[in-house]
Amino acid sequence: MRTIEWRDGVVTLIDQRLLPHKEVWREYEDYQGVARAITEMQIRGAPAIGAAAAYGVALAALRSPAETSESLLSDLEEAFRVLAATRPTAVNLFWALERMRRVANEAAGQGPEVMRAALVAEAQAIADEDVQVNRRMADFGQELIADGMNLLTHCNAGALATVDIGTSLGVIRAAHEAGKRIHVYVDETRPFLQGARLTAWELMRWGVPLTLITDNMAGHFISRGQVDLILVGADRIAANGDTANKIGTYTLGVLAHENGVPFYVVAPTSTIDLSIASGAAIPIEERNPREVTHVYDVPIAPESVPAANPAFDVTPYRYITGFVTEHGIVYPPYGPGLERVKRRARGAWQSAGG
Ligand code: MRU
Repeated sequence: MRTIEWRDGVVTLIDQRLLPHKEVWREYEDYQGVARAITEMQIRGAPAIGAAAAYGVALAALRSPAETSESLLSDLEEAFRVLAATRPTAVNLFWALERMRRVANEAAGQGPEVMRAALVAEAQAIADEDVQVNRRMADFGQELIADGMNLLTHCNAGALATVDIGTSLGVIRAAHEAGKRIHVYVDETRPFLQGARLTAWELMRWGVPLTLITDNMAGHFISRGQVDLILVGADRIAANGDTANKIGTYTLGVLAHENGVPFYVVAPTSTIDLSIASGAAIPIEERNPREVTHVYDVPIAPESVPAANPAFDVTPYRYITGFVTEHGIVYPPYGPGLERVKRRARGAWQSAGG
C-alpha cells in the first residue's frame, strides 16, 4: 500500500489524521487541495511531504489553461509559492519542489504539453525513488539490529511517513521479516500522537512485538538497560549533522548519550541540507497550541491557558551515533561523511538521466 498515489491525473492519499480508527482515502484534483492536505497533516512525514508537493506541482501543470511555456511557468510559480508555504521544517519539501522547478525550466523550450508530461513523470520518479531509497536504507540498517534486541522509536517514520516502507521503521520491519526476534518501545509522541496512532498501527499490522509508552517513560526504560538501540527519522539534517526531528527527539538523544545507548538517524540524502551549517539555522514549525490543549477535540487544560507547540527540536550531532542513508551508514566526522553521500546521490540521479 502506498501512502500517496497518482491515478489518472488525481492524487489519492490516506488521511492520517483519522488513523488508526478509520481508513479514509482522499482525492485531490488541484494543487491547493494537496497544499491543504500537507498543512493539515492529512499527509505528513518528511519524504511523504516531498512526494505530495511534487504531485501538487504536476496537478498545477495539468489544470493550468496555459497555452505557452511562458504562461505555464508563470502559473507554476504560484503553485511553488503555495506548496512551499505549507510546512517549513522538512527539507524534502523544498528539495522536491526544486527538482520539479528544474524539470519545468528544462522542458520549457519544447512547449507546454511536453512540460506537463515531464512534470508528471518527475513527480512519479520522486515517489518511486523514495520507495527504492527506503528499501536500501532498510538493508543497510540490518547490521545494527541483532536477534533479541529491544528498540525504541519516536514519532512515525514508517510507510505512512514516506511513499512506502519507511525510514527507521523500514529498518525495523526488515529486521522482523528477516526473522530477528525484536521488540519495539513506541513513544506515543505528544501532542499529535504519531507514535500511538500510526507507528503502533503499522507495527501491529506487520506483527512486530511492541509496547506503547508515553514520551516521559523513555528515560525510565533506557536507564534500566531495557533499550539496546534507538532509531529515529529526520526532517532536516544540517551540514554538521545536527538533526531536526519530531519534538522530543532531542530528549531521547541526551538520554541515549547519558546511558550509552546507540542512537541512529535513518534518513534519505534528500533530508540532508548542506546549505545549513548547523541546527541553529533550521526553521522550526510552530503549530496551533490547540494540539496541546486538546486531544481529539477534548479539552485537557483550563480554557485559554497559554501553550507552546514547537513541532520539532534539534538533536546536536554529538548525540548521534550514525546516519543510515541510502548510500550507506555515515559515522563521525559528519561534515565530510554527509557531503560524500550527498555527492553519491547526485551522481546516481544524474546517471539515471536526471
Ligand atoms: O510532523 P510530522 O508528523 O510530519 O513529523 C514527522 C517526523 O518528525 C518524522 O520523524 C520525520 O519526518 C521522518 S519521516 C520518515
